[in-house]
Amino acid sequence: MTKFHILLLIFALSLYSCQNNTVKQPPVATTPIAKDVHTQSNGDSVILKHLDLDIKVDMQLKNISGCATWTIENPYKKDMLYLDGYDLSYGNILVDGDTIRYKDKWSREDTFTQFLGSRLRIPIKPQSKMVCIYYTTGAKATALQWLDAQQTNDKKKPFLYTQSESIYARSWIPCADGPGYRFTYNARVQVPKDLMALMSAHNPQQRNDSGIYHFDMEIPVPAYLMALAVGDIAFKSIDARTGVYTEPGMIDKAAAEFVSVGNMVTTAEGLYGPYRWGRYDVLVLPPGFPIGGMENPRLTFATPTIIAGDRSLVNLIAHELAHSWSGNLVTNATWNDFWLNEGFTNYFERRISEAMLGKEYAQMLWEIGYQDFTTAVNELGPGSKDTWLKLDLAGRDPDDGLTDIAYEKGAHFLKLLENTVGRPKMDSFLNKYFNEHAFKTITTEAFLQYLNANLIKGDTTIANQLNINAWVYGPGIPRNCPHIHADRFKIVDSLIGPIHCGAYTQPLKNWSTLEWMYLLRNMPQPLTVQQMSHLDATYHFTQSGNSEIQDLWYAMAIANNYTPAYPAMEKFLSTVGRRKFLEPLYNQLCKTPKGKQWAKQLFEKYHNNYHPL
Ligand code: BES
Ligand code: ZN
Repeated sequence: MTKFHILLLIFALSLYSCQNNTVKQPPVATTPIAKDVHTQSNGDSVILKHLDLDIKVDMQLKNISGCATWTIENPYKKDMLYLDGYDLSYGNILVDGDTIRYKDKWSREDTFTQFLGSRLRIPIKPQSKMVCIYYTTGAKATALQWLDAQQTNDKKKPFLYTQSESIYARSWIPCADGPGYRFTYNARVQVPKDLMALMSAHNPQQRNDSGIYHFDMEIPVPAYLMALAVGDIAFKSIDARTGVYTEPGMIDKAAAEFVSVGNMVTTAEGLYGPYRWGRYDVLVLPPGFPIGGMENPRLTFATPTIIAGDRSLVNLIAHELAHSWSGNLVTNATWNDFWLNEGFTNYFERRISEAMLGKEYAQMLWEIGYQDFTTAVNELGPGSKDTWLKLDLAGRDPDDGLTDIAYEKGAHFLKLLENTVGRPKMDSFLNKYFNEHAFKTITTEAFLQYLNANLIKGDTTIANQLNINAWVYGPGIPRNCPHIHADRFKIVDSLIGPIHCGAYTQPLKNWSTLEWMYLLRNMPQPLTVQQMSHLDATYHFTQSGNSEIQDLWYAMAIANNYTPAYPAMEKFLSTVGRRKFLEPLYNQLCKTPKGKQWAKQLFEKYHNNYHPL
């Protein structure tokens, strides 16, 4: 470097530090690396404290319209507020009570990015306190599923529900749509008088005659936890603080299935500290709900496919409940840190299940989870960066990157921590973690720092044993990954051979869904039609009412040309909208030209029952 270059460098550095002294930097979630690439808002510098939502739900026009009033703070004296919106159309916009007049184009920057939507620009003043936006949702609203009466369980009244995670809240509320921005909210929601509305807030337990519902959420939540459901909905309580909502025709069945939910909350509290959200209720949605469950605060949204009649799939509720700590209380700062939500939750879910159903049961969950982990790694490719815990979703639809890796690699990493330091230390670490980060967001980097400071504490032997980098910033299944073998699956293993060749025909009593899943997943393939029909005659898979078993069996039926299962499979595909089940079945169909043609016909016929996502 010449003298001239050195002088130039000093000059540049002094300019930079000068700037640094005069311009206040916006705050960051927990560490400077928390850049959320999936929001076009400036929620990191203009603080959106509180939302007052006043909306009308039109079940005929299939839109939501009204006003979103944001109470803001502008500590960095910005002259512009940027918000996320997706296919929203805007009416008047008021800042501190004054309608702002500007050309259409100015307010709606032409920034439409395929999955991010458009950015709304609102000029504000340093002292601005309130921004009020009149808006209507569009036909392409990704968060909204509008069901005609025919598409509901009872087939009597229309239904609407939202699914805001990961970045869909912006399609029904103009907001700073990133997990790092929390706000409190109130809402006034007007719906047709014969329907009831529910939100991720304090909820009514009965329909009223006015069709107007008021909601409060005094605990700050990020936009992806905003939720609304409107329909003919009944309520039944489970215990003093838990209950279930669903269409009247399903309420008794749902309440019977979820009797253990009250206990579940108490069990979770025993593990990681008090449940901080008041009530815990579950809303069972019509069958088109695209996911298993969604952890909307105070009100988990769940698919009806977990109502098997024998309480065998209630585990999913343990997962959504666990999010009341991991996710809703301590939130991933960006979608790149998704494993902090889902990996922790999967681990926590298995701890709840272990406490309620015993060690043997939990072992089975872990082994099934390990299989899912292996499958995800194989599908993504063992060297893929999408198999790192820390993701890099820049420029991509987050939905493409949010895979089983976060769930299973994340959970197995925590299991490794537990195995390494012992359960008592692990549990007091997690308790402390949830307490100290309550109602905050956290990045992967901040978590690793915290882990170091509070659990590893500079112990190099432990650090070497863990090899954290391989987990967080490395691909595939790390060499030190725990692989739990379930005792109860050993029995299944010993029967697979005889069952496969038709030599074992005893009824298998007392098997849980997990054992059946393990059997079907590990059955040698291909099978002849004769073998399939023999299995079916013995174990009645085609007529099973258990969605996990149905899904695996129908996929096997397609692969092995077992046509007697087709009518039942078509019935399943005609109503169930859960992506986890639809994807493997449609994928399996598409493996042959004839199957692909049929898949197209089925999709044509039934896609109206599926979620727009
Ligand atoms: N928060 C997720 C659902 C989600 C994830 C929605 C990413 C949108 C983007 C929820 O808690 C979840 O994980 N649901 C699982 C069930 C669970 C038992 C693994 C599901 O829906 O299958
Ligand atoms: Zn989850």
